[in-house]
Amino acid sequence: MQTDSTPPVQCIGIPRETFPGEKRVATVPDVVEKLIKLGFKVAVQAGAGEAANFSDDAYRAAGAEVIDGAAALWAAADIVFKVRPPSSEEVALMREGGALIGFVWPAQNPALMEQLAARKATVLSIDCLPRTLSRAQKMDALTSMAGVSGYRAVIEAANAFGRYFNGQITAAGKVPPAKVFIAGAGVAGLAAIGTAANLGAIVRANDTRAEVADQVKSLGGEFVKVDYEEEGSGGGGYAKVMSEGFQAAQRQMYAQQAKDADIIITTALIPGKPAPKLITAEMVQSMRPGSVIVDMAAEQGGNCELTVPGEAVVRHGVTIIGYTDLASRLAKQSSTLYATNLLRLAEELCKAKDGHAVVNMEDDAIRGLTVIKDGAVTWPAPPLKQAPAPAPKPAAAPVEQKKGGHGHGSSGPLPGKTLAILFAVAALAFWFIGAYAPAAFLGHFTVFVLACFIGYMVVWNVTPALHTPLMSVTNAISSIIAIGALVQIAPPEAGVNGRPDSLILWLAFAALVLTAVNMFGGFAVTRRMLAMFRK
Ligand code: NAI
Repeated sequence: MQTDSTPPVQCIGIPRETFPGEKRVATVPDVVEKLIKLGFKVAVQAGAGEAANFSDDAYRAAGAEVIDGAAALWAAADIVFKVRPPSSEEVALMREGGALIGFVWPAQNPALMEQLAARKATVLSIDCLPRTLSRAQKMDALTSMAGVSGYRAVIEAANAFGRYFNGQITAAGKVPPAKVFIAGAGVAGLAAIGTAANLGAIVRANDTRAEVADQVKSLGGEFVKVDYEEEGSGGGGYAKVMSEGFQAAQRQMYAQQAKDADIIITTALIPGKPAPKLITAEMVQSMRPGSVIVDMAAEQGGNCELTVPGEAVVRHGVTIIGYTDLASRLAKQSSTLYATNLLRLAEELCKAKDGHAVVNMEDDAIRGLTVIKDGAVTWPAPPLKQAPAPAPKPAAAPVEQKKGGHGHGSSGPLPGKTLAILFAVAALAFWFIGAYAPAAFLGHFTVFVLACFIGYMVVWNVTPALHTPLMSVTNAISSIIAIGALVQIAPPEAGVNGRPDSLILWLAFAALVLTAVNMFGGFAVTRRMLAMFRK
């Protein structure tokens, strides 16, 4: 993939997915145009986008070459973009030393990893992205696909359910709203909560990670707690296996919810472990006939004891949907999102926009994604250098720990010795200013220095995750400059001394214009951010 003295532009190849029933495609015509702008050539296998409603003509119009047959496509491609892991037949078609980007799931597919390594391939497995890196979020295909799947799970449930979701009072009688219970409020669960609440259902949700309670509420759901104190976070935003005591208390709570709910959507997963069994056969039996369960964890063994992966079955009068292709069932949407995630990755790989991808192993996001580099297995990646450790309970955190725990690595507080030198230099500078500067200047200067210090301390003690919203507000507040500029344009003593110097006037005017942009921009950004949390 890395090119030293190779002028020819690299070709990105998009084969037709071969996994039975897979409708998604790894790129879409709109994204083809953007890949070409990065300097790449794009080749698409004839019919690759058909199942997602993207015609060959649309790809051609976007500038891609449409190639007949998988063999010719794989032969033409320097880099292959795929959705599902390649089959062994596909690996055999791959160019020696070629590159592959897609879902590979290295932990689950050791044989595939060996085959790819034998082809001296470079493989970027999109499921290995370090998701907690905020810079990597634009490439997070797991989140995009989970969001689509969560939405589709509700649509599948609505399709199988014999009633409205929203409550209605009609001339023909009163219809109660459907009650939906969501087990697991990760990305997919939250998407399901939002969708079901928007359709008018009463939504309740549970998760072992207590921190999601607010997210559930912000999407219109009610968080149902298990009556047992145990922290469910296993690190990196993921869950852990809970204790026997917790599981028993959780089963009791789920049994009550099952009796009450019309629809249960389960999304609970624990990385590297089989899906926890949360809905027992007895709970299914206790549900009203006509109720629906959508088990989104079906592929990992299912959260419900009676789930049949890949199928919809009826047990005790309850429809249990175990489809494992929910994202593919909304192929146009999921392909578009996936294509955009891969485009963002291509942008990271080709910063020079010269049609050559460079795998920079010094970059944390790219390092995490790269599971094979030129035939050498590089998976698993070492843990992130600056893993954003979840902040301990702020009230309990001693002051010193808080100072060091803001997660900014090298930009954190300075060591004592350097700090002492800096203070000495600053003290000398102050003495110099105090001795020689005019008294009026000294007053303003002291206020300025104190304001900088207080501002620094306030911002630094805010958790890094809140820095962006905070900065947008402070941008708006910083518009105190506007007042200063106004005072300069029309100084209070103007009546006595006449108009200010024209240079000052223009400088004040420029400050006013720039501050206005800053001020209204700050409010606009804050508004948009707040809107993200509103229904
Ligand atoms: P996932 O698919 O592994 O799990 C789904 C949900 O099931 C999780 O919320 C988990 O806590 C829950 N769960 C596990 N065992 C359970 C049990 N026994 N009972 C009830 N619930 C159970 O996780 P997903 O959706 O891929 O991501 C989970 C979290 O990871 C997100 O909510 C987020 O906090 C974090 N994340 C962070 C990102 C970032 O910082 N950029 C990006 C993506 C995810």
